[in-house]
Amino acid sequence: MEFKQKTIGVLSSGGDAPGMNAAIRSVVRTALNRNIRVLGIRRGYSGLLARDMFEMNLRSVSDTLHRGGTILYSARCPEFRDDKGVERGKEVCLEMGIDGLVVIGGDGSFRGARDLSLKGIPCIGIPGTIDNDIASSDYTVGFDTAVNTVMDMVDKLRDTSQSHDRCSIVEVMGRRCGDIALHAGIACGAVAILVPEVPFSIDSIIEKMQRTLRTGKKHFIIIVAEGVTSVGGVGTVHDIAEEIEARTGVESRATVLGHVQRGGAPSARERVLASEMGYHAVELLEQGIGNRVVVNHDNKIVDYDILEALQMKKQFDRHLYDIADAISI
Ligand code: ADP
Ligand code: F6P
Repeated sequence: MEFKQKTIGVLSSGGDAPGMNAAIRSVVRTALNRNIRVLGIRRGYSGLLARDMFEMNLRSVSDTLHRGGTILYSARCPEFRDDKGVERGKEVCLEMGIDGLVVIGGDGSFRGARDLSLKGIPCIGIPGTIDNDIASSDYTVGFDTAVNTVMDMVDKLRDTSQSHDRCSIVEVMGRRCGDIALHAGIACGAVAILVPEVPFSIDSIIEKMQRTLRTGKKHFIIIVAEGVTSVGGVGTVHDIAEEIEARTGVESRATVLGHVQRGGAPSARERVLASEMGYHAVELLEQGIGNRVVVNHDNKIVDYDILEALQMKKQFDRHLYDIADAISI
């Protein structure tokens, strides 16, 4: 019987995240070690449909571990949201001899991976997004670095807020998830953290500021998750700053950190997590197992059925939120 060498594809999809390169590197090196060919697919599902791919070797991933972004580029591919697009994706995989696919991305990317798996191309998802909004994984690749980036930026803002006795209102990323705001807020000593998961009122923030002003506090940091300003009916961070200044007398400035949070060298934790996940993903594909996501749960790397993972509900860490509130006085 003729021996057919197994071939897998790897792609990154959706918003990029620091640590994606570490995951790609781990997938490539683990596969090559096991005599599995690897095709690197550029720009997510768009690149798959366009057959934009190349064979990767051990050196394709040299000097990438410490770099942010993704060497495979990333994209959002609207065609892949409907069956016709997924069917074309399956045909491309069959044509290119792709026996399995590793998809590094968020929930949307996992839906595509599930759809393609159901058509007979085994796919494995690796959670790569700064938002930490994948319910099945305690941590996603990119989150730790993003939180550290926010912390560095807010530390700088604190210097100037302190010099001017000001209040800094900082908007951070996280479309529907307040995890970046919560973790950065606690790491930066924010007086208030506004997240989509917890109802809040500007009145109670102002009351807290007035209370702490009476005990001698002179400058303030408030962290606001972007999901709050886009859906919360509180206006923009600039509107919040105006209201706080008018009602407390503390001069206030708003800063939107934006895409700086998506870049930069991945933290050590990110590199380790992504390396473990990439290794585990290839082990599954080697056994012909697909339709799974590789996640981090209770400090272990485990895998779940994609649909089961997509149906899990993300739990917001209310206890950590209450701790942040209790100690920022
Ligand atoms: P993320 O993966 O970060 O959540 P998106 O939601 O933008 O980012 O999804 C990334 C890509 O995954 C989309 O551009 C699309 O190609 C694919 N995708 C999203 N939703 C679906 C879906 N319901 N079915 C199939 N593919 C999807
Ligand atoms: O999902 C990651 C994320 O950075 C969100 O935090 C943010 O809302 C969104 O992507 C921004 O997307 P874009 O790259 O389209 O500006």
